[in-house]
Amino acid sequence: MIAITGATGQLGRLVIQALLKRVPAEQIVALARHPEKAGDLGVAVREFDYDQPEAMVIGLQGVDRLLLISSSELGKRAAQHQAVINAAKQAGVKLLAYTSVLHATGSALGLAAEHQQTEQALAASGVPYALLRNGWYNENYSAGVPAAVAHDALLGSAGQGRIASAARADYAEAAAVVLTTDGHVGKTYELAGDTSYTLADLAAEISRQAGKTVPYNNLPEAEYKGVLVQVGLPEPIADLLANSDAAAAKGALFDDSKVLSSLIGRPTTPIADAVAVALKG
Ligand SMILES: NC(=O)c1ccc[n+]([C@@H]2O[C@H](COP(=O)([O-])OP(=O)(O)OC[C@H]3O[C@@H](n4cnc5c(N)ncnc54)[C@H](OP(=O)(O)O)[C@@H]3O)[C@@H](O)[C@H]2O)c1
Repeated sequence: MIAITGATGQLGRLVIQALLKRVPAEQIVALARHPEKAGDLGVAVREFDYDQPEAMVIGLQGVDRLLLISSSELGKRAAQHQAVINAAKQAGVKLLAYTSVLHATGSALGLAAEHQQTEQALAASGVPYALLRNGWYNENYSAGVPAAVAHDALLGSAGQGRIASAARADYAEAAAVVLTTDGHVGKTYELAGDTSYTLADLAAEISRQAGKTVPYNNLPEAEYKGVLVQVGLPEPIADLLANSDAAAAKGALFDDSKVLSSLIGRPTTPIADAVAVALKG
């Protein structure tokens, strides 16, 4: 049995779709904090809340392979992931695949700290595991594309840093491959897009598709954060986005190993596709 945490999230839904192309639905279990949101997934659903340790052991009965999709509750994640690892150990899970972050060890990204803690917890746990160190999603830029066109500028703080992003669906397919084939225990996969771009390149692509000039305006980290707060983002999110851009300037979102495309057996989805989807609205 293969189980997916965060199955009602955007990545989780795509992983279930990718799994359904590879194995019968009867072999898949969606683990959801709110099971009522998982009724349309086409697989069995079990309640699974990272904050309820005992119930998680029951949720994992009969599960051989588990995908732990990192929690979206920043600041609580390391403890929540530790609780999932403990439950997986008790339930006898034979492979725990964890969605970490690109180049987690030594990453300049502020959000890497909780991933490092989880990777250390896995190493200490005795549970057989694999690390899916996911790079940036193309979709992280989707919301910003129409805004950039409307305001005649793409803002950011990533300087000349190259970003090797890929579609969420690409990362989901890689997870499905790891969950349905053998030989992944102990492996670390640095997953990123085949091609990379600077935010100036992204602005040029937006300009090309929108048919108007949208220049890239690089701001110091604190100034970019201020703009994000001004347009209504909560301060912690603004802080995270500005910090991530500053880390991207130092290369934190770049990788040219092409491990992702070799795992999924096809090229990754280019950022131009995400720009096109965002402009179609
Ligand atoms: N690589 C990137 O560019 C990137 C970007 C953003 C996020 N991420 C990371 O990748 C993860 C997956 O991305 P995503 O786009 O699928 O995020 P998402 O749509 O926000 O999904 C997060 C999932 O985590 C679940 N969750 C949160 N707290 C939980 C808890 N206490 N117990 C059980 N489940 C809980 C959510 O459940 P509900 O459906 O009940 O809310 C949801 O299913 C994120 O959580 C984040 O750690 C990566």
